[in-house]
Amino acid sequence: MEYKQFGKTGERVSAVGMGTYYDPLWIIGATLGFKRKADLKIEAIRAGIEEGMNLIDTAEIYRSEPLVAKAIKGIKRDELFIATKVWSNHLRKEKLVKALNNSLKRLELNYVDLYQIHFPNSRVPISETMGAMEELVDQGKIRYIGVSNFTLEQMVEAISSLKKYELASTQMSYSLADRRIERDILPYCKKEGIAVLAYYPLAHGKLSKTDKLIELSKKYNKTPAQISLNWLLSRENVFPIPRASNPQHVRENAASTGWTLSEEDLKLLDATFPP
Ligand SMILES: NC(=O)c1ccc[n+]([C@@H]2O[C@H](COP(=O)([O-])OP(=O)(O)OC[C@H]3O[C@@H](n4cnc5c(N)ncnc54)[C@H](OP(=O)(O)O)[C@@H]3O)[C@@H](O)[C@H]2O)c1
Repeated sequence: MEYKQFGKTGERVSAVGMGTYYDPLWIIGATLGFKRKADLKIEAIRAGIEEGMNLIDTAEIYRSEPLVAKAIKGIKRDELFIATKVWSNHLRKEKLVKALNNSLKRLELNYVDLYQIHFPNSRVPISETMGAMEELVDQGKIRYIGVSNFTLEQMVEAISSLKKYELASTQMSYSLADRRIERDILPYCKKEGIAVLAYYPLAHGKLSKTDKLIELSKKYNKTPAQISLNWLLSRENVFPIPRASNPQHVRENAASTGWTLSEEDLKLLDATFPP
C-alpha cells in the first residue's frame, strides 16, 4: 500500500481508503434492526486493513459505524485514520456535540481522526458549526475538521470562520465519469494543501464497462476498477474511497496502488473522459 500526506496535517494516510455507505435499503434495514450481510461487510473492512488501508470513511447516517467498530477491534488505534460525518440537520453547536458523542459511542472510540460536515446547511451560520468543531478539537474528541459537498464559495467561507485550526479536507464526487471539481475545487485544494476524499470513485461500476478502460486493463494486466483508481491517484492530494462491502473487491482496490499509468495513457484517459 502507498501512503500519502493527508493535506497539511502531516498524517500518513493510505492512498486508497474504504467507503462504508452501502445503499438506502441497508440504512432502512439497519434502522429496523436487520443487518443484511453484516459479517461480509466487516470482513471486507478487515481485508482492507490487512492490505494496509488505514483510511475508513463512515457517517452518522450510513448506519455503518457499528460495523466499523467491529472491524477495527484489536487494531492499534494510532494505525487507523477514522473519518465520520455529521448530517446537515445537526450543525447547531448543541446538536453537533451530541451527534459526535453518538458516533463515538457507535464506533466505540474516544476520538475520530476526521469529522466532516456531510452537507452544508444555509439555515445554520457556518461560524457556529466551525466554532463547535474547534472546541471538539480542543477537547481531543476529533483531530481534524473536514467538509463534504461544499461549493468552493462555501468552503472558503468555512475556512475563514475557523479561528484556531485549518480545514484538513473536503469530500466530493470525483472520478473519470465526474470531473466537475477540476474546475475550481481541486486546484484550490492543491494550492492550499487541503486533502480531497474522492467519493463515488468507480461511478458504481459504470466505468468498468467502457472500452478504453477495458483496453487499458488488458495492457497493464489490471482490472478496469484499478485503472480508474490509479488515474485518481495521479492527483497528488486525492484519496479515493471506493465502497468496501466485498473482500475481493477491496483487495483489488488496494492493488490499484504501487504502480503508475504512463503519462501518455493518463493523457489518453483525460481526453477520453473530458471534464
Ligand atoms: N460525502 C458524500 O456525500 C458521499 C456520497 C456518496 C458516497 N460517499 C462515500 O464514498 C464511498 C464510495 O462511494 P460509492 O459507494 O457511492 O461508489 P463507488 O465506490 O464508486 O461504487 C460502489 C460500487 O462499486 C463496486 N465496486 C467496488 N470495488 C469494485 C471493484 N474493484 N470492481 C468492481 N466493482 C467494485 C461496489 O460493489 P461491491 O459492493 O460488490 O464491492 C459497488 O457496487 C461511500 O461508500 C461513502 O463512504 C460519500
